[in-house]
Amino acid sequence: MSFNLLKGKKGIIFGALDANSIAWKTAETIHAEGGTFVLTNAPIAMRMGQIDELAKKTGSKIVPADATSVEDLDNLVTQAMEILGGKIDFVLHAIGMSVNVRKGRDYTDEKYDFTTKGWDVSALSFHKVMQSLYKADAMNEWGSIVALTYMAAQRTFPDYNDMADNKAYLESVARSFGYFFGKEKKVRVNTISQSPTATTAGQGVKGFNSFISYADKMSPLGNATAQDCADYTVTLFSDLTKKVTMQNLFHDGGFSNTGVSQEIIDSFSD
Ligand code: NAI
Repeated sequence: MSFNLLKGKKGIIFGALDANSIAWKTAETIHAEGGTFVLTNAPIAMRMGQIDELAKKTGSKIVPADATSVEDLDNLVTQAMEILGGKIDFVLHAIGMSVNVRKGRDYTDEKYDFTTKGWDVSALSFHKVMQSLYKADAMNEWGSIVALTYMAAQRTFPDYNDMADNKAYLESVARSFGYFFGKEKKVRVNTISQSPTATTAGQGVKGFNSFISYADKMSPLGNATAQDCADYTVTLFSDLTKKVTMQNLFHDGGFSNTGVSQEIIDSFSD
């Protein structure tokens, strides 16, 4: 279903790797809603992923950028404005990676070089993206910036490892930069705290398959899918949410406010 909610709006979408990526689904949905955008990802992901297919489907250009490189981001912002013919209305940050998780290091046995790299990619990159946009005065008034996060920022999920700390930092950056972007440029900044979702990044978390089923049984509405997340993001990029800013918005079928569900109780009964 399409409502033309993003007709005439221009943006940048980070993080579409393959058809499972939340950013991939979001790009398709934004396209269906009339928005145009530049796709970006790390140069190495370009080789592994299938982003060309998405670009073709949505009539978009691709500008590679490592989200930890200020130089790459400044270049991306300049090129995006050239390609799209003006300032930007929406930006999606859908980037996450923990080197400790990838290398099988437990939270109590972090290698700090790995920690620093993962934090740079997953959390500081959000500040870097916004600083590049801010300094270039690249955002239109009433524009909207969204990053994706997870509830491990508030509550402990042991296997989420150092990504929990990265997400806490990411959410804080949304509030802090949201103040300045709101005051100076009338731009809103929010994070969406999404249900566990079967993507490349999601499946990197130990015990993911059991955990996604547990979350589904704990959520009165069931887990929010990648497509649900795409739909929600479209509302945040639309003019219908102009005064929502500096928020961490739970998009999880009710998981975050559920103590226990009947299904979970039943699984313990004798
Ligand atoms: P994904 O693996 O499809 O996307 C992660 C993206 O980050 C990839 O496209 C990857 O190439 C990109 N990336 C990694 N390093 C980069 C760098 N240096 N520069 C630029 N891009 C880089 O997985 P997914 O799940 O779609 O992830 C998107 C966001 O959603 C992440 O922030 C993730 O933490 C968040 N999220 C995911 C959940 C899940 O269960 N899958 C739940 C809640 C939040």
